[in-house]
Amino acid sequence: MVSMLLSVPAVVSTCLLLFLANLVGNVRGGIPTTLDGPFKPVTVPFDESLRGHAVDLPPTDPRLIRRVKGFEPEQISVALSATYDSVWISWITGKFQIGYNIKPLNPKSVASVVHYGKLRFPLSHEARGNSLIYNQLYPFEGLRNYSSGIIHHVRLTGLKPDTLYYYRCGDPSIPAMSDIYYFKTMPISGPKSYPGRIAVVGDLGLTYNTTSTIDHLISNKPDLVLLIGDVTYANLYRTNGTGSDCYSCSFPDTPIHETYQPRWDYWGRFMQPLVSRVPIMVIEGNHEIEEQVESRTFSAYSARFAFPSEESGSLSTLYYSFNAGGIHFIMLGAYVSYKKSGDQYRWLEGDLANVNRSVTPWLVATWHPPWYNSYQAHYKEAECMRVEMEELLYSYGVDIVLNGHIPQIYR
Ligand SMILES: [Fe+2]
Repeated sequence: MVSMLLSVPAVVSTCLLLFLANLVGNVRGGIPTTLDGPFKPVTVPFDESLRGHAVDLPPTDPRLIRRVKGFEPEQISVALSATYDSVWISWITGKFQIGYNIKPLNPKSVASVVHYGKLRFPLSHEARGNSLIYNQLYPFEGLRNYSSGIIHHVRLTGLKPDTLYYYRCGDPSIPAMSDIYYFKTMPISGPKSYPGRIAVVGDLGLTYNTTSTIDHLISNKPDLVLLIGDVTYANLYRTNGTGSDCYSCSFPDTPIHETYQPRWDYWGRFMQPLVSRVPIMVIEGNHEIEEQVESRTFSAYSARFAFPSEESGSLSTLYYSFNAGGIHFIMLGAYVSYKKSGDQYRWLEGDLANVNRSVTPWLVATWHPPWYNSYQAHYKEAECMRVEMEELLYSYGVDIVLNGHIPQIYR
């Protein structure tokens, strides 16, 4: 059995937790095991440029500006499927609209095609996928509605483990294809087979502190990124684009909790340099609820990311599981029913029962709000979820739980 070391860089802001998990026992990368220790603790000097009062990047920041023409792909990202032999490629084409009289784009007007292969030239394989748009609608006087660009998700299958693939995405008939990017598949699942380094981050946002976190994360060359909820904080803004650290303090009289959906597009552009080559796996946080007309929730989250939901039998974007080498990750939804009588619990029972610990010895569970913390603002917030699910996770010997939500580190 291998062991896992969590090293905690000193990158902690008021809304951010970052752990870099170095999987030890990695036979490929030569990362030492805890049996080779004890080691002197490694810490990163505190970055004085980090601000306790986090400041968002403005829309004029060059990293947030749309740089493509027509229906060329932007906001390109990679996500894992349930096993090493499949990944999702996602991107957006066309401009979002925000205003009072918006006309949604036709998602069928642009094809979803990925050309990929082990060689840069020629990209010998082609996969086709699906496209959609989502709307964020506020039927109240003076509030602006939003309709997304066309969001594309394509699943590549039949991939080899631990292998570099080149790809480009878009619609070749326009033509509007992206540049060529690359990603590496996860190693095959087995007790001696692990990704070298996994970055785990929560409460990311799009502030100047975020830029420091992502720079730090990139410099540590992760093989996989887990984002454990609270993604863009678009819901700290009104539909007119004015924002506040405390929405309810600054805007106490709005008829519904508004959002400014272009923040999602800014975030997608900002993240592309990382997530177009390193797979990112996301689970929802409270900032993704984003209630709109007819009590619809999680529209942006569910539409923009690809999830291995169907592949892992969940049929919901709000909880799913996947393997990364010898680790089985369970991503749980804290803002959807977790009751013993509900769908998620039933799915979790089945998923846990199917885990073969001789193939994936490590069992890691994540969800956004921690069950245990002493932070006054969120104290016992997730207690009901704990009461329903804790015993089940214990009974299957979950090794590690990773959470976000509170701006403190507990080990
Ligand atoms: Fe949160």
